[in-house]
Amino acid sequence: MKSSLLGLALGLVSQAALAATAAPPLQDKQAFIDHLLGQMSQAEKIGQLRLISISPEMPAEKIREEIAAGRIGGTFNSRTAPENRPMQDAAMRSRLKIPMFFAYDTVHGERTIFPISLGLASSWDMDAITTVGRTSAIEAAADSVDMTFAPMVDIARDPRWGRTSEGFGEDTYLTSRIAEVMVRGLQGKSGAEHDSVMAIVKHFALYGAVEGGRDYNVVDMSLPKMYNDYLPPYRAGIDAGAGGVMVALNSINGVPATANTWLMNDLLRQQWGFKGVTISDHGAIKELIRHGVARDGREAAKLAIKAGIDMSMNDSLYGEELPGLLKAGEVSQAELDRAVREVLGAKYDMGLFKDPYLRIGKAEDDLQDYYAETRLHRAAARDVARRSLVLLENRDDTLPLRKSATVALVGPLADAPLDIMGSWAADGRPEHAVSVREGLEHALDGKGKLLYAKGADVTRDNAILDYLNFFNAKDDKIVLDPRPPAVMIDEALKAAAQADVVVAVVGESKGMSHESASRTSLDIPASQKALIKALKDTGKPLVLVLMNGRPLSITWEREQADAILETWFSGTEGGNAIADVLFGDYNPSGKLPITFPRSVGQIPMYYNRPSIGRPATPGEPGNYTSQYFEEPNGPLYPFGYGLSYSSFTLSDLTLSADHLQRGQRLQAKVTVKNTSERDGETVAQLYVQDVTASMSRPVKELKGFQKVLLKAGETRELTFTLSESDLKFFNAQLQQVAEPGQFNVQVGLDSQNVQQQHFELR
Ligand code: NOJ
Repeated sequence: MKSSLLGLALGLVSQAALAATAAPPLQDKQAFIDHLLGQMSQAEKIGQLRLISISPEMPAEKIREEIAAGRIGGTFNSRTAPENRPMQDAAMRSRLKIPMFFAYDTVHGERTIFPISLGLASSWDMDAITTVGRTSAIEAAADSVDMTFAPMVDIARDPRWGRTSEGFGEDTYLTSRIAEVMVRGLQGKSGAEHDSVMAIVKHFALYGAVEGGRDYNVVDMSLPKMYNDYLPPYRAGIDAGAGGVMVALNSINGVPATANTWLMNDLLRQQWGFKGVTISDHGAIKELIRHGVARDGREAAKLAIKAGIDMSMNDSLYGEELPGLLKAGEVSQAELDRAVREVLGAKYDMGLFKDPYLRIGKAEDDLQDYYAETRLHRAAARDVARRSLVLLENRDDTLPLRKSATVALVGPLADAPLDIMGSWAADGRPEHAVSVREGLEHALDGKGKLLYAKGADVTRDNAILDYLNFFNAKDDKIVLDPRPPAVMIDEALKAAAQADVVVAVVGESKGMSHESASRTSLDIPASQKALIKALKDTGKPLVLVLMNGRPLSITWEREQADAILETWFSGTEGGNAIADVLFGDYNPSGKLPITFPRSVGQIPMYYNRPSIGRPATPGEPGNYTSQYFEEPNGPLYPFGYGLSYSSFTLSDLTLSADHLQRGQRLQAKVTVKNTSERDGETVAQLYVQDVTASMSRPVKELKGFQKVLLKAGETRELTFTLSESDLKFFNAQLQQVAEPGQFNVQVGLDSQNVQQQHFELR
């Protein structure tokens, strides 16, 4: 026994001898993988670690050759059965017939595009988000996709970062709950089902905290802040069963995540017990050279595999350098085997050893048209999109609009089916997307009248246009209107003059809130501001419909508008959903998952800041307190804020006891009343403050929420339960503790206007 193990380690056991060993039953995952590993040559093992992007420029023939030779483990970006079947056929021609997997960025939908993640988070609706995960998986799996690079759970507290749009906002608790339901939705009953896809939680870790909000920049953060605020969402996704983790492009306290043994090994695998696959981000291993931690490709590959990066996304270094590193003994066989085992394990979990064609299906079942309308899940998309819209202002009940009204619809984003799907819109097609213009036309249905004028371009800044258009595919380009700005505004004013109300759809084009789209300003571009100003001067009621992927500083716009509806990028059914809210067919219920600052200079502005020694007190002279003196302090719109056509009151917060004994529970009860004549939904939010602790703790932290539908005039008592685990935090020594003393409990319909009680933890 001993000698055969030694022989195995030295690669001396002949393939024939191993092949002769009976393969263990497929049901025994570990034994099956060990047996397979024992049959693999070193080159085949290295091949499994390579994840290759399929692009139109990539010769399909060449890829298939590489696969058949066992030199590729998986691909991403190809996403129909006719594209993927020949690759799987090639894998079935390889010596060991190890199946390929096919991955894709199905982030907020595959063919049916749902609101961007920030919009999904605005719904605070876990059932709706489960629907998004499930529907995305069903569509992606039917496209022969086995794995998605989602959910993206990076906490973002600096909206200058363009990828704020891809995450679920600023809050640890809300993002963690969403991470769980998204993973469960994507993976379904089991990742091995034909209609499930494996969830890859990303970007591990702290990508949302890049310095200055500038993409790919460094992250420097204290360990308690990491553990308390930034790491829990990844952990929540993993604990919900996510099959893998994508590693972030940034460095963490000086060490790039891709070379970070502490992050990948000590924290992820040892402390958290993660058993899945780890995948580098695109080209990240090679980037270790430019990070300044690897001299060359050889060292980069060595650092990455030693740190625990199993698969290399689209760079050639594992293929090129691992053979030499193994030969020189700088990377051990055990290190290689560990990585290969995780990749094989992921393929096993995706059900691919049982059936490599599980999601590809049979050729005779291939679809005639992968873009067929019948494949879309429009009803679900419309329902979720309505829930993601946030009503920010509604003076004098400007909204909802009457369907008999004459509406002037203006703005560069009013008729923008490509933009409405947002970034990372997978295989969503603009011809399927309902623009705001189309949505309003449907809603008015010939009763009222719709007058449309573009009114302005998204921006007239040529440098910005060049930047955004550089990456956009041919049909995605932002094309400037040939008419002078004044002529466009005049056209909009003519429409406004004939209308009862003006609806202006303004904000950002989809490319402005994307990867590599960091901004120094959070303003609506000047061309659109000029349009808003001119519209305001008409005196007609002005409704701003915002389309954007990050909080914008709309302090000035707030003064111009009678109503403001934040719609993010609301997806395939966005236009219909927006019309549903504008005309009152749906009563808005969204709440902000991220703070809106008044200006870019206030950043970082998030609700759960730690206590400080000299906080500013609103309304009191501010010298020597923490504030900026040029503008009012505090946010423009706080976390958790959002209006409804109904009005609600919250009262009578009571706690079941004045103290909590460890191991026991405490109830907080509160009464919510719908004081209006309309049925409506709202979100009751429970926050906790650890008043005195060994470290300054946040002034409040979300620890629970309930989205409730109340009939007109209905009163309901809600109960929240708190236990010791809700009071725990990581202290300076990184021990997770709940320290005795006073805790404040706050409940509100946003994070600012709250009722408060307190209790003592003994
Ligand atoms: C780079 C992005 O950072 C990541 O989020 C994405 O999943 C990969 N590219 C693959 O498209």
